[in-house]
Amino acid sequence: MAFMKKYLLPILGIFLAYYYYSANEEFRPEMLRGKKVIVTGASKGIGREMAYHLARMGAHVVVTARSEETLKKVVSHSLELGASSAHYVAGTMEDMTFAEQFVAKAGKLLGGLDMLILNHITQAFMTSVYDDIHLVRRSMEVNFLSYVVLSVAALPMLKQSNGSIVVVSSQAGKMANPLVAPYSASKFALDGFFSSITKEYSVTKVNVSITLCILGLIDTDTAMTAVAGILNVQPSPKEECALEIIKGAALRQEEVYYDSSILTSLLLENPGRKILEFLSLRHYNMERFTNN
Ligand SMILES: NC(=O)c1ccc[n+]([C@@H]2O[C@H](COP(=O)([O-])OP(=O)(O)OC[C@H]3O[C@@H](n4cnc5c(N)ncnc54)[C@H](OP(=O)(O)O)[C@@H]3O)[C@@H](O)[C@H]2O)c1
Ligand SMILES: *[C@@H]1O[C@H](CO)[C@@H](O)[C@H](O)[C@H]1NC(C)=O
Ligand SMILES: *[C@@H]1O[C@H](CO)[C@@H](O)[C@H](O)[C@H]1NC(C)=O
Repeated sequence: MAFMKKYLLPILGIFLAYYYYSANEEFRPEMLRGKKVIVTGASKGIGREMAYHLARMGAHVVVTARSEETLKKVVSHSLELGASSAHYVAGTMEDMTFAEQFVAKAGKLLGGLDMLILNHITQAFMTSVYDDIHLVRRSMEVNFLSYVVLSVAALPMLKQSNGSIVVVSSQAGKMANPLVAPYSASKFALDGFFSSITKEYSVTKVNVSITLCILGLIDTDTAMTAVAGILNVQPSPKEECALEIIKGAALRQEEVYYDSSILTSLLLENPGRKILEFLSLRHYNMERFTNN
C-alpha cells in the first residue's frame, strides 16, 4: 500500500497528464501536403484507402503490392484525387531482396521519404491446422521480417526528414484469439520489435516516430471472406480506419487503437506494461549507443 502511494499513483498521474497533453495537437490534412509517402499492401483494402486519403491531402505516394494491374488503377485514381505524384512498384514481400530494392526505387521516385506505411500481409485463413510449416514461415517472413527489412532500408532517409514509420497491426497482436496462431505470432513480433526500437530512439534521440496501429475487425473483402460463418463481430469501415491511421501517424503517436468499441481499445492499452517500460529505462546505460 505504501509503495502504491509513494510510486504508483504519482507515476500514473504523470502518465495521464502526458497522454492528455500529447493528445492536444490537432490533426490537419495540410500536414500531409507534399509529404513523400510509401504505402505497402496498397492494391486493395485498408492500404488502398490510405493511398486515396493521402492523395486527397496532396501527398506524393509510392504504392506497392504484387498485382500490377490493380496498382495501376490505384495510381491513376490517386492522381485524379489530387496526389502531388503517384507511382507504383510491383513485387512480392516474400522476397527480402525485392523489399530492400523497393525502398531504394521508391526513394528515387520520391526524392527522399517522410513516411513509410507498412501494411501488407500474406493471405491468412482461419484454421486450427498448422502441419504446413511453410504457411507459418510465410506469415513470419511477409508479415514481420519484410517489415524489418523495409524499415532498416528506409531509416537513413527517415532520419534526414525526421520522418515516420507506421506499422499496421491488429488486436491479434496484443491479445490471444483462436484460429489465427501464425498471423497472431507475426503481429506480436511486430510489437516486440518496433516497440523496442521506439524505446531506443527515445533514449538515443533518433527523431523518427514509430506508430503501431491496433485494429479491430475492418470491412475489407479479405477479412469479410476470412471470418464469414466463424466470427460474429460488427466490422468497422475501412475508409475511416485508414484515416485514423494517417492521423495518428501525422501526430507521431506511439499507438493508434481503432475498433467499433472504445472499451476494447481502452482495455488493450495496458497501462501496467507502459509503467514498467518507463521504469525499466532507468536501469540502462545507453551512452555508447547515443552517437550514431
Ligand atoms: N481487415 C481487418 O479486419 C484487419 C483487422 C486487423 C488488422 N488488419 C491489418 O490491416 C492490414 C491490411 O489488411 P486488409 O484487410 O486491408 O488486407 P487486404 O485487403 O487483403 O490487403 C492486403 C494487401 O497486401 C498485399 N499482399 C498480399 N500478399 C503480398 C505479398 N506476398 N507481397 C506483397 N504484398 C502482398 C495485397 O496485394 P496483392 O495480393 O496484389 O499482393 C493487398 O494489397 C494488415 O496488416 C492486417 O493485418 C486488418
Ligand atoms: C529535424 O529536427 C531537427 C530538430 O530535432 C531540426 O533541427 C531539423 O531542421 C529537422 N529537419 C527537418 C528536415 O525537418
Ligand atoms: C522531430 O521532428 C518533428 C517533425 O519534423 C518535429 O516537429 C519535432 O520538433 C522534432 N522533435 C525533436 C525533439 O527534435
